[in-house]
Amino acid sequence: MKELINKLICERTLTEEEFAALIDARGQVRAYAIEQARQTAQSSFGNKIYIRGLIEMTNYCKNDCYYCGIRRSNRNCARYRLTQEDILACCDAGYPLGFRTFVLQGGEDGAYSDADLCAIVSAIKARYPDCAVTLSLGERSRESYQRLYDAGADRYLLRHETADEAHYARLHPASLSLANRKRCLYNLKEIGYQVGSGFMVGSPYQTSQNLAADLCFIRALSPQMVGIGPFIPHHDTPFAAMPGGSLELTVFLLALLRLMLPHALIPATTALATISPDGRKQGILAGANVIMPNLSPADTRKDYSLYDNKACMGEEAAEGLAALKAQMREIGYEIVCARGDYEG
Ligand code: 5AD
Repeated sequence: MKELINKLICERTLTEEEFAALIDARGQVRAYAIEQARQTAQSSFGNKIYIRGLIEMTNYCKNDCYYCGIRRSNRNCARYRLTQEDILACCDAGYPLGFRTFVLQGGEDGAYSDADLCAIVSAIKARYPDCAVTLSLGERSRESYQRLYDAGADRYLLRHETADEAHYARLHPASLSLANRKRCLYNLKEIGYQVGSGFMVGSPYQTSQNLAADLCFIRALSPQMVGIGPFIPHHDTPFAAMPGGSLELTVFLLALLRLMLPHALIPATTALATISPDGRKQGILAGANVIMPNLSPADTRKDYSLYDNKACMGEEAAEGLAALKAQMREIGYEIVCARGDYEG
């Protein structure tokens, strides 16, 4: 198994069967992958960690994904949407803290037209020309992605969630398809965005073979960013009683992603920090190099509830940046004030 990791380091890829075998490895093999991934991240980024200010702009969503707490049919979700003014106020709070990337994330909310979103993006870019704007607003038409890019958006996050058709169909209603997801991702890349994809670890019905397919899809797409986190059940969804994903497997997969994509921007995600008090640290020590503290207005955070107990306080909050810096310093890393673009 150690040979497979060495092969991954040399060739930056493996066959799907090799990935599947590796994913089932435990103990020493995982520890070796994590060690190597940490060194790879250090060669690419030194001890620097990039931060992104996450602005959760709307929790309205027209989709009904079985795992997600803000799915359309969750009647217990208190819905909100931020105005352009609200969003700019978040940026105003984040800029002096050192944020140079703002991530606008939301459910698929038809209430914002392309023109509304373009106005928001160009207003942020006009006020903060030295900042990057990342969008994470789900599936849209190629034309819409193009307009947003022309308005100044730099990056787009859209997790593929699972690269296996049959598994995709067990996580999503029939109105959503893996084919469309992939089309969106390739459209975004062609337009010129820095693109992020990713998946949940331990989502219901997921197999090692599914995860191997996820790694192969990411290898083929070669995104500039990859976000993964453990599946965490939400009490108001069809998956309320399903088991969550594990810290150990998530951290191991982070290491494999780092070995595949030495220069990719890979966050230690909020979900990882939510399942364990040292999830964030473990993620960084396995090769992650980005953290995305919450910059949403304090009173809306509890309503952007993708899964139960989602962390939004302390080190996960933009106001908690001092604590986050201290936590990173404890393990020898330094948070930097920079856009943190992909440099291949
Ligand atoms: N557990 C973990 N991650 C989730 N997401 C949505 N619901 C959950 C959940 N229950 C993730 C999805 C989505 C991202 C914004 O949050 O992967 O792409």
